[in-house]
Amino acid sequence: MNVVFLSPGFPAEMPLFARGLAQVGAKVLGVGDQPAAALPPEAREVLSDYLQCSFSDENAAVEQVRAWLRGRSVDRVECSWERLMYLAARLRHAFGVPGMTMEQTAIVRDKERMKQAVEAAGLRVPRHGRAQSRQEAWSVVERTGFPAILKPIDGAGSQNTFRCDDAAQFEAALERTRHVDEISVEEYVEGEELTYDTVCAGGRILFENVSWYKPKPMILAQNEWISMQNIVLRDIHAELPRPGVELGHGVLRALGFETGFTHMEWFRTASGEAVFGEIGGRPPGARLVHAMNYGYDLDLFTGWAEAVCYGRLSQDTTPKYNASMIFKRAQGHGPRVVEHRGLRELMQRYGEHVATIELTPVGEPKRDWRKVVVGDGWIVVRHPDLAYTLQMSDAFVNDLLVVAG
Ligand SMILES: Nc1ncnc2c1ncn2[C@@H]1O[C@H](COP(=O)(O)OP(=O)(O)O)[C@@H](O)[C@H]1O
Ligand SMILES: [Mg+2]
Repeated sequence: MNVVFLSPGFPAEMPLFARGLAQVGAKVLGVGDQPAAALPPEAREVLSDYLQCSFSDENAAVEQVRAWLRGRSVDRVECSWERLMYLAARLRHAFGVPGMTMEQTAIVRDKERMKQAVEAAGLRVPRHGRAQSRQEAWSVVERTGFPAILKPIDGAGSQNTFRCDDAAQFEAALERTRHVDEISVEEYVEGEELTYDTVCAGGRILFENVSWYKPKPMILAQNEWISMQNIVLRDIHAELPRPGVELGHGVLRALGFETGFTHMEWFRTASGEAVFGEIGGRPPGARLVHAMNYGYDLDLFTGWAEAVCYGRLSQDTTPKYNASMIFKRAQGHGPRVVEHRGLRELMQRYGEHVATIELTPVGEPKRDWRKVVVGDGWIVVRHPDLAYTLQMSDAFVNDLLVVAG
């Protein structure tokens, strides 16, 4: 099984997917824009070959890959990074390889196309519309109403995403997104925000997960002092997650999704209704794959690879724990981390349930949380009981201070 894997060295989790492919016996042919020498060792170790290639011109990239392959057969073209998904689809087309087509990729990359497809299946999406000009944006919001959300049509990481409560805020948001070619305008949906994630093969769901964002990603992107929690829920059929699982099943059917990771975000309103947010045909970022691994005690990097290569997932997918992942951001104005306040007490109390903890060491520069998703700390606590997991998680949020000075 020869698998062309795009960008095996970047972002940080890609070497783990490359390793997964190698672990299930595939020959991994890496294509990336980094020089081979700059690849992380974990990626280099598992690649059978590597092509450094510029991604700025996709047609040229396809030809370069073709020349490099020199007639070697290709069974799959895989890409776990959102930015190169169209290129992956082009390569599949060029080499006649199964997997997501350009058209299927557009549906999971374009926030309007995906909502149209989901809506057409009779599922609940926010009122929405696309806009390429100020005028178009105003005509959409007249229909969708306030409060509204304004965001790039193919955005990521809550960048350039604004909640607007009235016309003045909407005008200000339009001003701040003038550099964005196309925007999506939506009804703002009040409620909790959760994910619904799967690994599928041949249209069958082999693994499914719901996790709960606290707070919602948009708030996190705007407030430095907040520690994010993302909680992988052990019982996805409990009252909180269940509507999203049902919605997720409908969405996958509506999209005709076949094989690979999916990552959907949805809102749970106070009345318990699930409203579609967005879906990606790729694994979630921000270490959520790690968090799912801790919750289910498995390795989804390899599980995904097995699904993609052989259409099955042979690991035990029974949920074991609620797993809460917490990202800390250093507080204080200095450039370096000077203290992990509260850590010792927390470890005394909850240490046995801490699956992993990694904080910026004392003495090192604090990280730029806008660039490094885990900020100055990454902690996973886990327990079969949800209430206890939330209690531990809150304790790490409130009683652990990574102090910068
Ligand atoms: N219609 C909406 N109602 C409420 N919040 C929203 C809405 N659309 C987006 N958001 C908030 O903005 C964040 C980013 O939007 P999203 O569509 O997920 O884009 P991306 O994650 O690609 O940046 C969401 O996680 C959510 O917190
Ligand atoms: Mg999102």
